[in-house]
Order: sequence, then C-alpha cells, then structure tokens
Amino acid sequence: MKTITTSAPGKLMLFGEHAVVYNRPCIVTAVNERMYATIELLDSSGFELQAPDVNVVDYKKQIRELGNGDIPKGAKFVEIAVKNFFENYHVTQGVKITTKSDFSSRFGFGSSSASTVCVIKALSEVFELNLSNKDIFDISYKTVLDIQGKGSGFDMAAAVYGGTLYFVTGGKVIETLNISSLPLIVGYSGVKADTVTLINSVKELSVANPQVVEGIYNSIEILVNKAKEEVLKENWEQVGSLMQENQKLLHALGVSIQKLDDMISSTSNAGGYGAKLSGAGGGDCMIALAPTDKTTEVNKGIADAGGVVLTVTTNAKGVKIES
Ligand code: PMV
Repeated sequence: MKTITTSAPGKLMLFGEHAVVYNRPCIVTAVNERMYATIELLDSSGFELQAPDVNVVDYKKQIRELGNGDIPKGAKFVEIAVKNFFENYHVTQGVKITTKSDFSSRFGFGSSSASTVCVIKALSEVFELNLSNKDIFDISYKTVLDIQGKGSGFDMAAAVYGGTLYFVTGGKVIETLNISSLPLIVGYSGVKADTVTLINSVKELSVANPQVVEGIYNSIEILVNKAKEEVLKENWEQVGSLMQENQKLLHALGVSIQKLDDMISSTSNAGGYGAKLSGAGGGDCMIALAPTDKTTEVNKGIADAGGVVLTVTTNAKGVKIES
C-alpha cells in the first residue's frame, strides 16, 4: 500500500501582523521547525488520525462524517483539510494520517498551519493529483477560514512556499524575497496567546475608533513596504529600526503585554538594532535583530527579562516530500 511522508515549516511574522487581516501586506519567514505527515491509503472509507503531539490518538471517523460532531482541538485542522481536499477532488478512499512535530505547539510557530499544508501535499501525492503550490495554499486557506472565520493565510503561505515572503491577505500577492540569510534572534515569552481572541480585540477597537485603527493599518502598510526594500538589501540595522516602529503601532493596537515589552526593551538596551512581538501578540514570541558582536548581550537581555531564547533557522524550505 502506498505511503507518503511530507514535511512543512513553521513561521515567524516579521512585519505587518493584524493589518494583514485587512487587505494590507506583511512579511513572514519560514522557520526550520517542521511538522511531518505520513499518509497511508486504506481499503475502507474511514479516516484515521494519530497526532500524539497534540493528544490525538486512534481518532477514527467515516469519511462522510468529516467535519460533523465534536472535533478534538488537535484534530480540527487536519480533519477539515482532509474534508476540503476530498470534496474538491471527489476522493472517497480511506486514509490513515500520522502527524509528528519537531517543535512544541506552545511557541506559536504555526503547528496547525504546517500540519494542514503537509497533509494536503501528502494527499496530493498519494492520490497522484500533482497539485501546484497555489492549489495547496488555496485549500489550506479555505481550511483556516472554515475553522476560524478570519485570518490572512500568511502562515499557510509560509508553510507552502517557505523562504521569506511578502504576502497580501488571502494570497493576493505572494512574493519570495530572495535573501541569503536572516540573522533573527527569537525570544519566547512563556505566555500562551490565542490568535482569534486577539484578532477579535483589535476588531472591537476598530469598531470603537475606526479612523484611528485604519490610520494604524495604513502606517503599518507603509512600514512593511519600506521593510521589504531593506530586507532585500539585507540592511539589518535599518530592518531593526523598522521593527521598533512596527512595535509602537502594535502597542497602539493594544496587543503587546508587559512581558513582551520588557523583553523588547531589554534587547534594545543590550545594543540590538530593534525588536518587536511576532504574530498576534498577547504572548508567544518576540524577535530582534542585533549586530553580530552584540548577540550574546541581546540573548542575555531576553533571559534577564524572563524570556527563553529559541534557536531557530529562518528562511527555511517550504513543503516537501520526505519519502
Ligand atoms: O499568532 P500568529 O502567529 O498566528 O499570528 C497571527 C497574525 C495575525 O495577523 C494577527 C492574523 C493573521 O491571520 O494574519
């Protein structure tokens, strides 16, 4: 019986979070903390999922029941991705899916998006459909919208294409920024953030103060476009100072927290070029850029502020077949 294993990377948002939900651009980099999916075809019309990293063991359902009833949190993205794939490509044969993660889902690197993308890629291979990256992105993005009702899809794009991307809402623009490296320092706050809650809180702010929030989104857009040019030049000093600007705007949206603020100012005091939160805010990670000779001090600054420095490789490869 045919078996395929694929992998897809996690992500870190460099610039433009929140504004990217509302038709603005962002910049995202793929990180080499990967999710793996193995798919085996079954003789039955059943769906089986083993995802022990997210406490899903021996989860079984009939294919016609996909999407119905209570779905365990850890199974949601994979189940809805499979449902969308089967409906789109009129597949009815049973599959057994096993997912495995290189990284903890608590860091906010996007384990749900990476697992969605590697499952769709593996289904495309196992059913010999040869889907393009754009096809895989489109089904993945539909899956996010089906589950969360909102989101830009930037995380799915990073998992599909890899590298460092300039991305506009829903994949209207997906442009690879060809750079050789991205010397990012990543600090984990230890606080778990919920993306949908934060998107909703920004939405509430924009209902109460529409002009202010639109103004912030417009400023973020200008900044993302400047950052794109500086990232392409690999001018990290300038990129760092733009991060600092972006952080002020995120602060104004009310999505930063004291712990992240402390970690960020601590890196600046230690001689970094600039830092910001990465992703929805409310916790998860912050990112910083620093001159090479200041890395040790900046890392210490993060630790002194109560954060944990994570070693991650950025600009990682997109979804791929492992075996
Ligand atoms: O919390 P994360 O890392 O999934 O980032 C969310 C970024 C938002 O712009 C707030 C939402 C989105 O879908 O773009």
